[in-house]
Amino acid sequence: MALLNSAHGGNIREAAAWLGIDPQQLLDFSANINPLGMPGALKQALCQNMDLLERYPDPAYPGLYQALAAHHQLPAAWLLAGNGETEVIYTLVQMLAPRRAMLVAPGFAEYRRALQQVDCQIETFLLTEAEGWQLTESILPALTAELDCLFLCTPNNPTGLMPDESLLLEIVARCRQLNIALIVDEAFLDFLPDRSGLIPHLASNPHLWVLRSLTKFYAIPGLRLGYLLNSDPQAVAQLRERQMPWTINALAALAGEVILEDKAYQQATLRWLNAERPRLCQRLRALSGVTVLEGQANYLFLRCDVAGLDLQRALLEQHVLIRSCANYPGLDERYFRVAVRSAGENDRLVEAFEQVLAV
Ligand SMILES: Cc1ncc(COP(=O)(O)O)c(C=O)c1O
Repeated sequence: MALLNSAHGGNIREAAAWLGIDPQQLLDFSANINPLGMPGALKQALCQNMDLLERYPDPAYPGLYQALAAHHQLPAAWLLAGNGETEVIYTLVQMLAPRRAMLVAPGFAEYRRALQQVDCQIETFLLTEAEGWQLTESILPALTAELDCLFLCTPNNPTGLMPDESLLLEIVARCRQLNIALIVDEAFLDFLPDRSGLIPHLASNPHLWVLRSLTKFYAIPGLRLGYLLNSDPQAVAQLRERQMPWTINALAALAGEVILEDKAYQQATLRWLNAERPRLCQRLRALSGVTVLEGQANYLFLRCDVAGLDLQRALLEQHVLIRSCANYPGLDERYFRVAVRSAGENDRLVEAFEQVLAV
């Protein structure tokens, strides 16, 4: 039975209650948040602009939309921002109201929940261990005219795997041919600076919806900010019509104006990840019983093959919380996801692993 009820990582309250300790005493590797913390310029802007909270935000969020449009060099009319990417997923699914959708498993849980709310019939395309959990061309024949919608996550959560660009473009073309709305979640793409994702292909593909989150890279999951892009301004205008007013609070909207051009923070983040990801991988790979699977992004996907060891529970006893992937369709209790954190925190994670594997 699952140790924690939460459908996501990051629930340190539940984990700490299970141990009977203060949540502050836990090191959380279960949520994939940039350990640099929010950009300094943002913290300063938030502190200096508290009085924004005393007024309603402009429901058209002109400053935020201008900043997003400038960042992507695309028209603001192609964008819908929301209270985290999660809100945008639900608003989009409510509008598209697909009758039949395909999800790739394992994958992020909120696509399924959003589709269930519109009584959509869901087909699951299972990734396999034999194919290294990578999305391959075998998905192409599974895309048929009966489908209204396909969700992809690139890089995928929890595997951290990024499909080849050529395969992504084949999927875009097949979905266009079959009239399938293709929703591509690029929540973690900023952590892969060598990949540009599908935004450059929006113009010729109005059936393509790209989702972006700012909460992971800029360490603002509590502030909440995300958005989508699509090249059909009328469809985007319909989404804006449907969205409740003021879903983005005034400080989150301000954050969008401050963080996107913070090049120094972006570079510092990529320097940290370039150094720490391979180092953590290498240290964990040196342990027996644990396999670190191939992937990219700011988290690692692991399999633990030590019979009888409840890895999440054992690490929790060392005050380290990792994400069990047992509740992902397509995975089981052998699979885990850990965030890459600061060098010192990663060393503590490895020490905790050494403790529990040595028993
Ligand atoms: C793949 C993926 N997409 C979207 C989200 C949600 O992002 P946000 O915090 O912007 O709602 C998450 C959160 O964990 C995620 O893992």
